[in-house]
Amino acid sequence: MSDESIRQDEVRPEPVRRALVVGAGTMGRGIAQSIAEAGIAVSLYDVDPVAVERGVAAIGEQWAKAVAKGRRTGSEIAEFQSQLQSAESLARAADVDLAIEAVFEHLETKLALIREVSALLPATSILASNTSSISITRLAAAATRPERVIGLHFFNPVPVLPLVEVVRGMQTADATVEHAVAFVRQIGKEPALVQDSPGFVVNRILLPMINEAIFCLAEGVASPETIDATMKLGANHPMGPLALADLIGLDVCLDILETLQRDLGDDKYRPAPLLRRMVAAGKLGRKRGAGFYDYV
Ligand SMILES: NC(=O)c1ccc[n+]([C@@H]2O[C@H](COP(=O)([O-])OP(=O)(O)OC[C@H]3O[C@@H](n4cnc5c(N)ncnc54)[C@H](O)[C@@H]3O)[C@@H](O)[C@H]2O)c1
Repeated sequence: MSDESIRQDEVRPEPVRRALVVGAGTMGRGIAQSIAEAGIAVSLYDVDPVAVERGVAAIGEQWAKAVAKGRRTGSEIAEFQSQLQSAESLARAADVDLAIEAVFEHLETKLALIREVSALLPATSILASNTSSISITRLAAAATRPERVIGLHFFNPVPVLPLVEVVRGMQTADATVEHAVAFVRQIGKEPALVQDSPGFVVNRILLPMINEAIFCLAEGVASPETIDATMKLGANHPMGPLALADLIGLDVCLDILETLQRDLGDDKYRPAPLLRRMVAAGKLGRKRGAGFYDYV
């Protein structure tokens, strides 16, 4: 399937009516929120019931803020809320058109989950993974119907960022790709069809830039503020690479660079030694209150 073949005016598969999101962390919550806002019934499940409770509460807070700021009306929010439910078990998978997993980025955890969910899903349903770095082909191999498995790589914060990389594994059927692309549009986002390659497109381009900014800092080329200002004012980026690294999490940046270096077999992706030292020191960025900048 070429890029041209995903134009709006082509194939229109059945819309998704019921979805399940597995993993109620940062990404699962955002994905469930976006699905509910599109008027699709969505259940949120997590192996940790507290995470589901927190996830549903966090989504409710986002909606309350949207009303307070006049971006949404109370009746819109009531409608969204009626679409969102918590699921007590994975058995809910037997009743959905689409399941999206957003559990820890850990191969064995994802493989076990995919085995279990794919055995429960109806034969025509799709199983999507939000993995940032694991091969979709490898994950699909664990599924009952590998041709119905695909990558849907959302970006954080999901309700704000429009892009979803639609990742085609070696076994993924054309019909699955068409269905997944239509779903991404159904929730008002922009699909980008990409092959199953380490880092897909966004992280493969973004992380080397962040890494180079860290090399510049380590070599004393400029201060963090100056490095970020150059890219904002000279390249029109909305935020500088070091501030962005703090937002993503320096541990996550290091993981992605290691994956790119290992899986593409190219040392041009080698992580900057300063990045390794900052991760070792627990300076992980915003989430820990300190990274290239302080957040206290
Ligand atoms: N955080 C990001 O910016 C980002 C961006 C794109 C993609 N991703 C990918 O999304 C996925 C989730 O990332 P996150 O940042 O939301 O993680 P997170 O740690 O915030 O949440 C993961 C959740 O998965 C749950 N979980 C773990 N094992 C489970 C299982 N077997 N069954 C059900 N639930 C289980 C955990 O309890 C936790 O609540 C990862 O694959 C990650 O690579 C993350």
